[in-house]
Amino acid sequence: MDKLIITGGQVLDGEIRISGSKNAGLPILAATLLSEGPMHIRNLPHLNDITTMLALLRTMGVEITIHDELCVEIDPADIKDDYTAPYDLVKTMRASILVLGPILARYGEANVSFPGGCAIGSRPVDIHLRGLEAMGAEIEIDEGYIRAKSNGRLKGAHFFMDTVTVGGTENLLMAAVLAEGTTILENSAREPEVVDLAECLVAMGAKIEGIGTATLTIEGVESLKGCEYTVMPDRIETGTYLAAAAATRGRVKVKDTDPHTLEAVLLKLEEAGAHITTGDDWIELDMKGQRPKAVSFRTAPYPAFPTDMQSQITAVNAVAEGTSTVVETIFENRLIQVHELNRMGASIKLEGHTAIITGVETLKGAPVMASDLRASASLVIAGIVASGETVIDRIYHIDRGYECIEEKLQQLGANIRRVPG
Ligand code: UD1
Repeated sequence: MDKLIITGGQVLDGEIRISGSKNAGLPILAATLLSEGPMHIRNLPHLNDITTMLALLRTMGVEITIHDELCVEIDPADIKDDYTAPYDLVKTMRASILVLGPILARYGEANVSFPGGCAIGSRPVDIHLRGLEAMGAEIEIDEGYIRAKSNGRLKGAHFFMDTVTVGGTENLLMAAVLAEGTTILENSAREPEVVDLAECLVAMGAKIEGIGTATLTIEGVESLKGCEYTVMPDRIETGTYLAAAAATRGRVKVKDTDPHTLEAVLLKLEEAGAHITTGDDWIELDMKGQRPKAVSFRTAPYPAFPTDMQSQITAVNAVAEGTSTVVETIFENRLIQVHELNRMGASIKLEGHTAIITGVETLKGAPVMASDLRASASLVIAGIVASGETVIDRIYHIDRGYECIEEKLQQLGANIRRVPG
């Protein structure tokens, strides 16, 4: 297994380009299954999770051509008639569940391996399934598979999601666009990635109102056409590089991004003492050499502070001036990285879903283990700040979500390299 070796102590300074969003790219790739004609998807990030989703589509018989500059042409015309997302692929990426709604809506039948739990929590899919049942699907769990059938087209329904779920909203939205009649999805997730998916569906001919709000109203259509679509920039990758610069008292300009999708994070970074300037598609953060100040926050669905940025800002707090409290409300095990940060000299106490962080002047390099995608990013940040060498094991987690992470950090002045394990 590859490892990352970081010799810390540098102040980050420079400019980088942000990649396309993983969490928007995944549902948009799943949505190609709804199309009658070929789709061209641009700005997909080159990441393991995207490759897994492409492999899943290929397994189902979808024809995929990869052009230059990460433009992918997808033609779902010859999909196999067993409509199956197999265990081997689903087990490596839970987001595979996103093909359930589109396959069922388009072909009246879907067999998707039941995704298990993962390092950050149990992650049930009950709301996805109940919403599809409300649209008339019959669902049974058999030999580890979700087997869903509809008698003809799915039927429009009025469905209330009792937890705000990003994947659940996306799955039900993709099912509703081809259902007969009107679907109203209440308490929908408003994350920018859900908006990006909805806009792609509209470009394919779907009729959706309330995009970006908690109530999505979908008038089902009989078919959707192919289109060209450019995936939004990755707001979590953006926030991660801003956090890394803040932790090192440095400066970074991130380009090809969207400042509007990241307001809660930018406000916290400003509270931490960062000077932030933005343009249409760039953000510049400058700490002007100052140590960050501790900032308290709790994670919650958009537009509140994103759980996917919690561990990175926790790493900033670990070296900030003062004490902070971070409450994780979305996933039960998502403060798991604090044990590794403490091994590097941080002073963090865990009380249930709350971390109480007393900032220390600096951290010390240590061998550490990545446990999930965003936790790994916090260890990279900690490694760059720390004196001495940090060796991060199990970095396949990082490769799921950060394109060219060592190259981008090297460009900012970090001393980081990958060694094959
Ligand atoms: C997506 C993101 C992930 C992010 C998360 C929350 C992708 C590929 N992943 O994950 O990076 O951290 O949103 O912003 O986009 N829940 C239920 N029942 C369900 C579905 C969810 O109880 O049927 C719960 C979950 O356990 C969790 C909460 O709802 O506590 C939010 O999860 P959800 O928004 O669904 O996360 P994902 O879509 O899996």
